[in-house]
Amino acid sequence: MNVAASNPTPVTPFSALIRTASQEQHTEANGMSFIGDMLGGRLGVDAYRRYTEQLWFVYRALESVPGELAGDPVAGPFIRPELARTAELERDLAHLGGPGWQAGLVPLPSTAAYAARVAECARDWPAGYVAHHYTRYLGDLSGGQIIRGTAEKTWGFDRKGDGVRFYVFEGIANPAAFKRDYRALLDALPVDDLEKQRVVEECRRAYALNTAVLRELGREFPLSA
Ligand code: HEM
Repeated sequence: MNVAASNPTPVTPFSALIRTASQEQHTEANGMSFIGDMLGGRLGVDAYRRYTEQLWFVYRALESVPGELAGDPVAGPFIRPELARTAELERDLAHLGGPGWQAGLVPLPSTAAYAARVAECARDWPAGYVAHHYTRYLGDLSGGQIIRGTAEKTWGFDRKGDGVRFYVFEGIANPAAFKRDYRALLDALPVDDLEKQRVVEECRRAYALNTAVLRELGREFPLSA
C-alpha cells in the first residue's frame, strides 16, 4: 500500500488559514490608539458616536447588497438575517444623536473608501464579499462583546440597550456555536485554492480598511498623541 496515499498531508481548513493569515492585521487593528483609548474609558461619548456613525456606513454597504447575492453559491450561505446590524445601528444612533442623527452625516474619507470596496465586492466578486463579511461579523461576535461592556460602563448605556444594540445579536442564542457553524461554511467555500488565496488577501485588505478608519478617528480624538 502506498503510504503517501493512505496518509495524506492534512489540509488546513480554510477557517484556520484565514484566521492565521490575518492574525498580524488583527493585532494591528486592535492595537490602534483609538481602540485603546476607547477600551480604557478615556474617550467621550462624542467619539463613540462618531465611531458608530462610521460603522453605519460600513454595514449599510455590507447589508444593502444586490438581491442576487443571497442566492449566490459562494456568498449566499453567509447572508443571515440574524447577523444584520443596520437597524440596530440606527437605533443606537438615534439614541446618541436624537431623531435628526442622519442630518448632514457624511462618512470619513477612509470610511467612504471602505464602504465603496465592500459595495464593489458585493456587486462583482462574491468571494471577496465573503472576506469582508468574515472580517466584520466574526469580529463583532468576538471582540465586539468587549467593546459593549466598556461602552455600557463608560457612558452609562443600559445593559444591552439603546447605544450598544449593535453588539447584541438577539437572534443568536449561542455565539460560540454560531461561530463554529460559520467556520464550517468557510471550510466548505466552493472555490479553488487560488481563489481562497485571493480571499485571504481581501481579508487583509478589509483589516487595513478598518485600521485606516481607526487611524482617522484617532486623529480626530487624539488622546494618546
Ligand atoms: C476592540 C478591539 C478588539 C478586540 C478586543 C478583539 C478581540 C478579539 C478576540 C478575543 C477574538 C477571538 C475570539 C475567538 O477566539 O472566538 C477576536 C476574533 C476576531 N476579531 Fe477581533 N478584536 C478587536 C478588534 C477587531 C477588529 C477591528 C476587527 C476587524 C474589523 C476584528 C476582527 C476579528 C475577527 C474576524 C475575528 C475572528 C477570527 C477567527 O477566529 O477566525 N477584531 N477578536
